[in-house]
Parts: sequence; structure tokens; C-alpha cells
Amino acid sequence: MFARAALRNSVRAPASARYFSQTAAANRKVAVLGASGGIGQPLSLLMKLNPKVTELRLYDIRLAPGVAADLSHINTPAVTSGYAKDDLEGAVDGAEIVLIPAGMPRKPGMTRDDLFNSNASIVRDLAKTVAKVAPKAYIGIISNPVNSTVPIVAEVFKKAGVYDPKRLFGVTTLDTTRAATFLSGITGTDPQTTNVPVIGGHSGVTIVPLISQAPQGDKVQAGEQLDKLVHRIQFGGDEVVKAKDGAGSATLSMAYAAAVFTEGLLKGLDGEAVTQCTFVESPLFKDQVDFFASPVEFGPEGVKNIPALPKLTAEEQKLLDACLPDLAKNIKKGVAWVAENP
Ligand code: 2OP
Repeated sequence: MFARAALRNSVRAPASARYFSQTAAANRKVAVLGASGGIGQPLSLLMKLNPKVTELRLYDIRLAPGVAADLSHINTPAVTSGYAKDDLEGAVDGAEIVLIPAGMPRKPGMTRDDLFNSNASIVRDLAKTVAKVAPKAYIGIISNPVNSTVPIVAEVFKKAGVYDPKRLFGVTTLDTTRAATFLSGITGTDPQTTNVPVIGGHSGVTIVPLISQAPQGDKVQAGEQLDKLVHRIQFGGDEVVKAKDGAGSATLSMAYAAAVFTEGLLKGLDGEAVTQCTFVESPLFKDQVDFFASPVEFGPEGVKNIPALPKLTAEEQKLLDACLPDLAKNIKKGVAWVAENP
């Protein structure tokens, strides 16, 4: 008797259905472009587990229908479908959020900029279709080099006459994720409540962590300990590239970070107050760079407000001074390339 009741309960409410307690508040369609890749697969899984997502569209040049069939058996609200190589429009049509992890990953010794030649055209072509069939979508760019691919997407949207800077984001959440992890490793604090804003861009010296802004930041000694921490955050991606030894770069932590970004965006769309660091068109250093990552307030229409930066320490100002010329070069490179290769 007891066993049968237990069985009935488990049929009605399997544990996985209770993985998230919230239910979907609105009709939220998310498309992942590059869904079969190293980042795309775990990101698609995390999107399928997000109860706010009501529809999940997976696109890739191979395997997306298979990944979608696999995920579709998970008993969460998102209705999941896969789209083959020639049906990008089908995948993107009507999507409210489009996440783009498509492209090649780094190999040991490569910088993110070394991916420019392979990934610029992939991102440009995907952006053209998004501009055509989902011009109002919120777009999260993960494909590297983010410092250049975001401006490329902006130019494609401008050319199509549908650019809205409030809807285009470079996902830099992995930098704040790494900063929280590495800082808490030093201070012994809970990594989940350690919060370090990271500004600038998403590559090497363009990544500027503001350790002074973390409540635990004063536990890091100025000098060698601080320099090492900053360097580890700036070049943390290289640790993964090296450890994977030719098989790619960060995929699982990147997917996690992109899922955190998307959750923030969804909360903002639902009217909750959320602030996250992300790379957007920004007024903060407009005379030097059009795009800049900093804490951004999300709202029902994407970017709600870009607050002024807090007061930087002398060390942080030095890092920012080193960031801006490099970032400006990366942005210009994207804009110039897409003008020559429309
Ligand atoms: C990283 O930071 C893949 O760009 C990604 O590791």
C-alpha cells in the first residue's frame, strides 16, 4: 500500500521536476545558435533546466536535432526543438533571447583575437538572420573574440536598420565568476556571495577586476598577492586552454556563466532589479571606446541603466589605462572588418 502510494507520487512529481521551484511567468523563447558545441550543449541543458524558459530552439550546423531530442525528455517546461543547418531562420524566428556560442575555440598559445578570422564571419552571418527574423531579440554574444564580435553584430544590425543598443550584450560573466572563485580561494569566504565587478572587455589585459569593490577585497595584500590575483583573473581562460591540451577552451564554466547572464536578463525582463557586468554599448569612455563592460542594470527592455563607475584605486586605474587602448583596437578591428566584408 505504502509502496504503491510512493510510486504514484514519484510518477506525479519526479524529483527532477522540482529541481527549480519557480514556474514560468511569461512566454520566454530562447534560441541557442551553436547548440551542439562544447559550450552550446551544456548551455542548452542549463536553459532547459530554467523554468522561466517556455521554448528552447537549438541550432547548429550538425547534431542540433539530436541534442534537442535528448533534452526534450527532461520534464521541465521548455518545449525543445532542434533545427538543421539549412533552417537557421526557423530556429530564430520569434525568439525573444538569442544566445550565440557558435565558433571555434582556442588552442594552446592562441589569444582570443587569434580566433577573429574563423569566428567573425560565423557571427556576422548568424547576426544577419537574427536582424531579419528576430530584430527585437535580446542577443547574448559568447563567441570570441567578444571584444570584436559584439561590434560586428552591432554593425550588421545598424545596416539592417534595427540596431537597439539596449538589446545587445557581450557575455563577460565568466570573468566575474572567476574573480569570485579566485578571490574567495584567498579569503576563505563563500564563493557564491563573493562579488567582484569586472570591467573593460573579455580578453587578457582588457579584463579589469575591481577587487577593491568586493567587501573581502581588503583581505588581499597590495603588491604581489594582488598582482597575482588580477593576472589569474585576466588570464584564467588560458589555464583551461592549457589543461585541455588542444581540445578547446572553457566550455562548462562558460555555459554556467552564460546561464547566469541569461537568468539575470530574464529577471530584468520580468521587472526584477538585477545588476550584472556585461559588455554593451556604453557612454562611460565614449571618447575612447563605444563598447565597455561594467555593472549594468537590467530592466523590462534590456539595458535599463549603466551607472557611473565607483572610485578606482591607483592600481585599478593603471589596469584601466592599459585596457582602453587594446579594447579600442579590438572594437575597431571588428567594425573595419565588417565594413569590408558586409
Ligand atoms: C573564456 O574566458 C571561453 O572566453 C572564454 O575562457
